[in-house]
Amino acid sequence: MTVTQTAWQGGGMARVDATGAMVSPGTIAPPGHAEGAHGDTPRTGEARQPDSTTHAHTRGDVILDLQNISLSFGGVKALTDISFDVCEHEIRAIIGPNGAGKSSMLNVINGVYHPQQGRIVFRGQERRQMHPTAAARQGIARTFQNIALFKGMTVLDNIMTGRNTQFRTGLFAHALWWGPARAEEVRHRRKVEEVIDFLEIQAIRKTPVGRLPYGLQKRVELARALAAEPSMLLLDEPMAGMNVEEKQDMCRFILDVNHQFGTTIVLIEHDMGVVMDISDRVVVLDYGKKIGDGTPEEVKANPDVIRAYLGTSH
Ligand SMILES: Nc1ncnc2c1ncn2[C@@H]1O[C@H](COP(=O)(O)OP(=O)(O)OP(=O)(O)O)[C@@H](O)[C@H]1O
Ligand SMILES: [Mg+2]
Repeated sequence: MTVTQTAWQGGGMARVDATGAMVSPGTIAPPGHAEGAHGDTPRTGEARQPDSTTHAHTRGDVILDLQNISLSFGGVKALTDISFDVCEHEIRAIIGPNGAGKSSMLNVINGVYHPQQGRIVFRGQERRQMHPTAAARQGIARTFQNIALFKGMTVLDNIMTGRNTQFRTGLFAHALWWGPARAEEVRHRRKVEEVIDFLEIQAIRKTPVGRLPYGLQKRVELARALAAEPSMLLLDEPMAGMNVEEKQDMCRFILDVNHQFGTTIVLIEHDMGVVMDISDRVVVLDYGKKIGDGTPEEVKANPDVIRAYLGTSH
């Protein structure tokens, strides 16, 4: 795949809902999505045009600043002296060949891995490392490269687990289904139903996740992350293994989340068409080092990037 190739450039494709039925035709967001211009050009197809109650979110201040991050596992240097930032409301892509350190970087951001060196500044607070629960409480949610859902549980129950960090009342009150706990449960269910509607998965809400095709499982994982009402969403290859229609839908949902809720998105993706179409800025890793950082146009023109990654088939 070359840098200029776009998976569905200009194609008028029908959407497919959770049952596999055609929903309505629409086109994927056109290329040329300009930096800081969310909403200036229509980025969603006919089926999901933002309504008049939603508004565009222009790129805001830096909310996450990663400084000189180094991480190794024994003798393996997964990340070497990596610095980049993420601004509020932007879609920030991380790309690079297999083993470049992309997933490790997400794991540093949400506290699963603790770097040996470097600083993380999140919303003005400096720390050497994040902790996963603190990251979740501060509004960082994620999906995983390998789907991490409870396969025997229904879609609904899996999405409900995304609300865990939001529970306020204690176990005792919940056990008794008592006053505030009941009100809280109702609030959680309402939020989960909103997410189900948003991602158009009503038809499979009672289905055990293990019975769903891969593409829909990925969508359910996104639903679980959205149920936490994150301000920052980390997506590790959300479209991997999907067919063209599933990718198109996922791409549109990501854009809609960003557009309608202003959610900041950090996205790892191998499909260059997707990355170049929907990202505001792209950071490029290779062998654990940063070799490029900038707008899609800047990254495409960066000779180091072309040599190390984009010029090679993946
Ligand atoms: N928990 C771990 N223990 C040991 N080594 C690890 C661990 N996690 C990552 N690594 C190593 O760190 C390097 C970067 O891996 P990482 O998974 O971050 O790459 P990636 O860019 O996400 O690759 P891919 O595109 O294949 O998903 C690799 O050499 C990998 O083997
Ligand atoms: Mg990875």
